[in-house]
Amino acid sequence: YLDFVHSSELTGVDGKPMLNRYSTHLTRQHDFPGAQAMLFAAGVPDRHAMQTAPHVGIASVWWEGNPCNMHLLDLGKEVKKAVNARGMLGWQYNTIGVSDAITMGNQGMRFSLQTREIIADSVETVTCAQAHDANITIPGCDKNMPGCIMGMARHNRPSLMIYGGTIDKGYSETLRRPVNIATCYEAFGAYTFNTLRQPDDGGDTSKTKDEIMEDLERHACPGAGACGGMYTANTMATAIESMGLTLPGSSSTPASSPAKMRECAKAADAIKVCLEQDITPKKLLTHKSFENALVITMALGGSTNAVLHLLAMAVTAGVELTLDDFQRVSNKIPFLADLAPSGKYSMADLYEIGGVPSVQKLLIAAGLLDGSIPTVTGKTLAENVASWPSLPSDQVIIKSLDSPIKESGHIQILRGNFAPAGAVAKITGKEGLRFTGKARCFEKEVELNDALNRGAIPRGENLVLIVRYEGPKGGPGMPEQLKASAAIMGAGLTNVALVTDGRYSGASHGFIVGHVCPEAAVGGPIALVRDGDEVTIDAQSNTISMKVSDEELERRRKEWKPPRPTVTRGTLAKYAALVSDASHGAVTDLF
Ligand code: FES
Repeated sequence: YLDFVHSSELTGVDGKPMLNRYSTHLTRQHDFPGAQAMLFAAGVPDRHAMQTAPHVGIASVWWEGNPCNMHLLDLGKEVKKAVNARGMLGWQYNTIGVSDAITMGNQGMRFSLQTREIIADSVETVTCAQAHDANITIPGCDKNMPGCIMGMARHNRPSLMIYGGTIDKGYSETLRRPVNIATCYEAFGAYTFNTLRQPDDGGDTSKTKDEIMEDLERHACPGAGACGGMYTANTMATAIESMGLTLPGSSSTPASSPAKMRECAKAADAIKVCLEQDITPKKLLTHKSFENALVITMALGGSTNAVLHLLAMAVTAGVELTLDDFQRVSNKIPFLADLAPSGKYSMADLYEIGGVPSVQKLLIAAGLLDGSIPTVTGKTLAENVASWPSLPSDQVIIKSLDSPIKESGHIQILRGNFAPAGAVAKITGKEGLRFTGKARCFEKEVELNDALNRGAIPRGENLVLIVRYEGPKGGPGMPEQLKASAAIMGAGLTNVALVTDGRYSGASHGFIVGHVCPEAAVGGPIALVRDGDEVTIDAQSNTISMKVSDEELERRRKEWKPPRPTVTRGTLAKYAALVSDASHGAVTDLF
């Protein structure tokens, strides 16, 4: 397998790097006439191209039912045109993907995280099976980006990623303010509690709550592109750009911008550089580049999902990265960005003041980001951003380093008798740093959503709402719980914290703790907590604990019985059988 996958023929007879070093096994003579007949039929123009042109797989996560992905086929066509114009052979193909926002509306969310593995499997499979010499991936929605990078790390052939791009801002005439996908979820909380109102600032305030919801649903997503705040898709794209795996600016260039099309053309030049200089994914996926990913995630207030995905990418690339690295970087990196969900602005706003390269430039100059890492352009990260404009002095989105929103990062790794193997909290400080409340346990998110819809969560006392059996194995699929957190924000319930062994959406905010490990399905302490137990989350001591004695926990553990699996056949059953725990990225190829 290794001989087949890793070609040793790095140079040709002329001593120059051999750009078609994988496909040459099929194309050099007439050993595989059937393969060559098929390739001629598929579009190889002549014998010279057959024998010399490198094959570049162009994998878009296209599908038309999701704004994050619906334009990716067109981006792929642009890439193919540019690749072919530079004497290579571009082969477009597709992987599957799902919409995180759409799946959130039903039990389909259980299928979301596993799509990351299916995307990685697809990219690895097509690249290796078809003897591609290089790979350009074009992802859009949340799980797409880590899936593509994991696929690249597995095949380890020259590769780069083009992010599909962020969505433009929506605008609600009724609310008279910019709106986005998270506005819809939060408005639903207010809708449920009958507190959804138009602003009373002199305009027409006659709209019913249903008319306001209708207006939001129609205007939150104005076209193609991934969710516009520092949610998971933009977080992962930003992190991956800071690791050197995209062209500069990829993560902040909006999907609808002409610059995104230009990026597709430039990607062909870059992939040729990668082939000529043998720049392979594992040369870019290093401890230093992961450190950069962590730094930019903290500085921009990225999603907690970055913890899971960066761990998965590191495990796949063979780089040692642990939860403790996240805490170490969080402790030293100031939180600078006033971006949604906790802030006011969107990625499209950041693009207008210079985009992610301008932020990188600031962080490199401050010695926080490592500008010396290699990138897919053949230059270092610092060289890539050197000619980029600095952030304007009058901009308000990125705070200065001496006056940050928070002195340290917003992601906190918690441990304690509630989560001995770790949990991930997103704490911006706005909600305070410590929370103690009585446990209220829900088996599955749907139970909590029902309770919220019935108005069964009282406002009087501090409650820690615990949603369990939603981990990688238990969900299965570690579903995101945006609906509950958004409804709580929308309803103005400030007396609650949310804790789960599942995940939170990048759009979630409030006092939330996810990724609790070990998960309930394998008998972790989260399965043993009972209604009324006192639970404390402390972001200063990085602990999550319950006031239950060790003896009592042991007694409960003996009583605990694993629940019957909710799925026994099909893709989710396979996933549940293979998946590792969240503290190791929830990957499916770690044996
Ligand atoms: Fe695709 Fe948000 S649903 S990025």
